[in-house]
Amino acid sequence: MHSRLNNGRRNFLRVSAASGAALILNSCSGQKATPTTESTKQPSSGKGEGEKGGEVTATEDLMREHGVLRRALLVYSEAAVKIRSSPSAIPPDALLKTAQLFRAFGEEYHERKLEETYIFPAVKKAGGPAAGYPDILIAQHARGREITDYIIAVTKGARLGTAGAQLAGAMDSLVRMYRAHAAREDTIVFPAWKQTLPAEQLDEMNDKFEDIEHEQFGEDGFEDAVKQIGEIESELGLADLAVFTASPAPTPQ
Ligand SMILES: [Fe+2]
Ligand SMILES: [Fe+2]
Repeated sequence: MHSRLNNGRRNFLRVSAASGAALILNSCSGQKATPTTESTKQPSSGKGEGEKGGEVTATEDLMREHGVLRRALLVYSEAAVKIRSSPSAIPPDALLKTAQLFRAFGEEYHERKLEETYIFPAVKKAGGPAAGYPDILIAQHARGREITDYIIAVTKGARLGTAGAQLAGAMDSLVRMYRAHAAREDTIVFPAWKQTLPAEQLDEMNDKFEDIEHEQFGEDGFEDAVKQIGEIESELGLADLAVFTASPAPTPQ
């Protein structure tokens, strides 16, 4: 049985020089690539299944990638509020880094390499209620990429200048779209995809996704992405989860 372990997957070290996405992730995280060590990859014999954490399934993987993207969207929505009151309140570089992470980890890897290549075609082919979603989801991927292009273009300079209000609007529209998008994927499309595969094939997909991630990012793709969004949050004063605790509920009148 093929098996993927939480850490074993991420510890397989291989750097793909051909991958621009890998370069972005590695350069943003400041991590150095280490030489390929085939022996660190968990064998597909199932060895190590008793280790803590267990294996990361393909659907769990997709959903935790959404978690990274949701944190990027949170940066956008918090930044949009601040930019509207003061365009200089947010360093453009923090938004540029967020957009570059969204591009490399979200658009080029999660969307293009996994969803558009494996998930959507299988869900469409299977028919049923979920089959109507992929076309809309693909259109939303395309629109998201246009907005990311725009965010990258306007945040490359030292100051936002007059682009502030427009940028805030674009970020809000991306946040709104992607919240609906990822929620439908998590609750309808990914479960439908899982239903298209026998357990054995699902296991093989776990391994395939692992290999794609290594090709794309070299090593520790998910951990690097989490680290990067954490650094951006720190820069913007959003690192403390308690900041987001809601105010007490009002007393009913
Ligand atoms: Fe998607
Ligand atoms: Fe997704």
